[in-house]
Amino acid sequence: MEITLGPAKSIVGTFDVPGDKSISHRALLVASIADGVSSLHNLLQAQDPESTIRCLRSLGVKITRNGETTEVYGQGLNGFRRPTADLDAGNSGTTMRLLSGILAGQPFESTITGDESLRNRPMQRVVDPLTRMGAVISSQKGKPPLTIQGKNPLDAISHTLQVPSAQVKSAILLAGLFAEGATTITEKVITRDHTERLLNLPVRTNEEGRTITVVGGTRIPPFTIVVPGDISSAVFLICAAALVPGSDIVIRNVGLNPTRTAVLGILTNAGLQLSVERTSHQEPEEYGDIRVKFGPASRPIDLDSAVVPQIIDEIPALAVLAAASGVECSVRGAGELRVKESDRVSLLVRNLRSIGVPAEEAGDGFSFERAVITSGRVQSGGDHRIAMAFALAGLRGGAEITIDEAEASEISFPHYWGVLESFQKR
Ligand code: S3P
Repeated sequence: MEITLGPAKSIVGTFDVPGDKSISHRALLVASIADGVSSLHNLLQAQDPESTIRCLRSLGVKITRNGETTEVYGQGLNGFRRPTADLDAGNSGTTMRLLSGILAGQPFESTITGDESLRNRPMQRVVDPLTRMGAVISSQKGKPPLTIQGKNPLDAISHTLQVPSAQVKSAILLAGLFAEGATTITEKVITRDHTERLLNLPVRTNEEGRTITVVGGTRIPPFTIVVPGDISSAVFLICAAALVPGSDIVIRNVGLNPTRTAVLGILTNAGLQLSVERTSHQEPEEYGDIRVKFGPASRPIDLDSAVVPQIIDEIPALAVLAAASGVECSVRGAGELRVKESDRVSLLVRNLRSIGVPAEEAGDGFSFERAVITSGRVQSGGDHRIAMAFALAGLRGGAEITIDEAEASEISFPHYWGVLESFQKR
């Protein structure tokens, strides 16, 4: 499916964004090993969490949906049944990596695979620690499919994260539930902490970094959670409103976990008019409304390795916002962008060039000078965030942008094109 978007009329009103993708995956996975029925409200209903649901059902977990409530019939720590076919994680790296942690602690062999994009993503980062814990895992030179012969109990380990990755951290924490003794993980760079919040794990911070401890065999009580709106999805609406004259919007009930909000500081530093209102805390996450008024970026966006792990998913939107605002942009220390749902460095650079922005590619990032966006066609490469980011390029006026394979947005924001179309002048 291709979508063409041009200038938008003022964007005014109150919006909701779909439930947070990272929290939705974790809520499903943790509920599946809880001792009873958990109720998950406002779970993201999109392809990525559907992949987690599909895998869990293949492992014998009953999951039902009634309106916006999803009920997960937890099997306890040792209640999964051996799947009769390969588990299919679709496009979802979070499903594959986090579920691998649970599969490592099962007394059976299972294979987890995914679509072409996922089969090209690095898995050695979870294979190594889970192997140290006693699972036997085979991969295709570090890539999926992964065949995991689990061990129960696993061996507890102390692990320092080499790549700042919440997915790797979470895989080890989940595996730690199936280990004998206490598993500790230290991260030098803080990554999203939704798993430790959901499992209510103790965290210590010192000069080494943040250390999280999980004690094997800890039973998980069933729980109720209201999943906040996804800040990574909200960013697209924030940028849209900032770019279109006369806009003034409020996005309600967005997750404001401090490990996810660095993007708001970057946008404010770039000159956007943002405010956070009506904040609240509802275990285990923080929420609030975000108000944005018209006002494009007026200062360059310059991102380096110190901040990149906190805003890795928002870089496509930030880059297109900078281009459409006519400010410079430089992103370095972002080699991880090359191993996301696509090689986002090369795809961003190629697409920016197709719409008149002479971006320069580097091994670990890209940069461009001030430019004026021209009409053109871009490729999503099947990557949801690339598709949604380039939708912003034409909104300010002067260019029509066609996005190929726009249906990629179904991964995390199913109604995105309807919302963006409703902003169009034509
Ligand atoms: C995620 C962590 C990040 C992020 C991804 C979701 C998670 O990946 O890019 O979209 O839910 O834990 P890494 O752990 O690979 O950095």
